[in-house]
Amino acid sequence: MATLKTSILGIEFENPFLLASAPPTASIEGIDKAFEMGWGGAVLKTITPDDLEMIEASPRYAAIKEKGKVICFQNIELLSHETIKYWVDGIKYLKEKHPTKVIIASIMATLDRDEWQNIVKILNETPIDAYELNFSCPHGMPERNIGMAIGTNTDISILITSWVKSVATKPVFVKLTPNVTDIAWIAQAVEKAGADGFAAINTVQGFMGINLDTLEPVLNIDGYSTYGGLSGEAVKPIGFRCVAQLRQNSDLPILGMGGISNWEDAAQYIAVGSDAVQVCTEVMLNGYGIINGLKSGLLNFLETKGFNDISELKNIAVKKITSHENLNKKSHLYPLVDREKCIKCGKCVKICSESEYNALSTDKDCVYLDKKSCAGCSLCSHVCPKEAIKMCG
Ligand SMILES: Cc1cc2nc3c(=O)[nH]c(=O)nc-3n(C[C@H](O)[C@H](O)[C@H](O)COP(=O)(O)O)c2cc1C
Repeated sequence: MATLKTSILGIEFENPFLLASAPPTASIEGIDKAFEMGWGGAVLKTITPDDLEMIEASPRYAAIKEKGKVICFQNIELLSHETIKYWVDGIKYLKEKHPTKVIIASIMATLDRDEWQNIVKILNETPIDAYELNFSCPHGMPERNIGMAIGTNTDISILITSWVKSVATKPVFVKLTPNVTDIAWIAQAVEKAGADGFAAINTVQGFMGINLDTLEPVLNIDGYSTYGGLSGEAVKPIGFRCVAQLRQNSDLPILGMGGISNWEDAAQYIAVGSDAVQVCTEVMLNGYGIINGLKSGLLNFLETKGFNDISELKNIAVKKITSHENLNKKSHLYPLVDREKCIKCGKCVKICSESEYNALSTDKDCVYLDKKSCAGCSLCSHVCPKEAIKMCG
């Protein structure tokens, strides 16, 4: 029988699914409910010094949808609006009621050593399991020289990590931003400064676009907008890439996230190097109840594959990611058209000719391949509206 139980830095997880620091973890009542419903843990909405002002804009969300489903979410939300005392009392309440759940305190402060250390010293006295340093919020905070302004600056990231590590009595994860040229570079720096693990990714900085009727920004705050953080399905490949790059450069634990909406996404995050995963946007869109499908799906997958636990899945794909130079250039696939599915629309032929290769032609019965001209690029299989083309050896 496989198990979802796992252990990271001596912290026992009943399952590897954590709520990410975000609106679903902005209140004790919400987290309480999520724990009742089966989440393995929660990263609290980022806690800041009480005098750091958080004034929100309205609206603060925008979305790109496809067939009614949100595929890309944007937010410009700031950090926790609650006081440190609220969280201290809440953490004690939650741990007493749910002793087996993991609680991670996400924190952020200004570039002042005392501010960071004061929060940590206060939270050290609570039963939290770990810290997550938010070096990665891409909106609102960078203009105050914090959030992503920290995580895009190696020296400041090192400095703050060492300030926190010098007083923290619990493991310290650093939450990294994907909005850098090389996430592994900054990770190596904070690892040297004493970080115990990484969380990645925070949101990807973006701009939702312009409403062409009004010629104003889609995320419209009284006619103006700002750059925000993208999350949800669209950012998943960026998250996978970042986690894999972290894993290829470090053995520290990784809390992987970014676009997880089902157990398959979670399994892939583990395969590219995550020790546990966090979920935010999918919970915001569909509620805490998604935990049931996440847990049963992942458990069933482990059993089907003959794995005892997620440690046997972890990192399995990392060795499969190499440099372009190392890829086998002698491997060549060709398109195979399923005649039953093909509607002879000619799209594959047109696209192949207009994107360089001219390897396909058609008559009223069939699509023909000129093997000598075919680059094996697979573009035809992606543009076919009927998914009638498969690439084969
Ligand atoms: C509305 C919203 C608020 C967020 N607030 C925080 C926050 O306070 N602290 C933090 O570290 N990350 C915050 N995040 C980032 C998420 O924790 C997570 O890193 C990101 O959304 C990617 O995961 P997802 O695709 O599952 O949402 C927020 C994300 C959203 C959408």
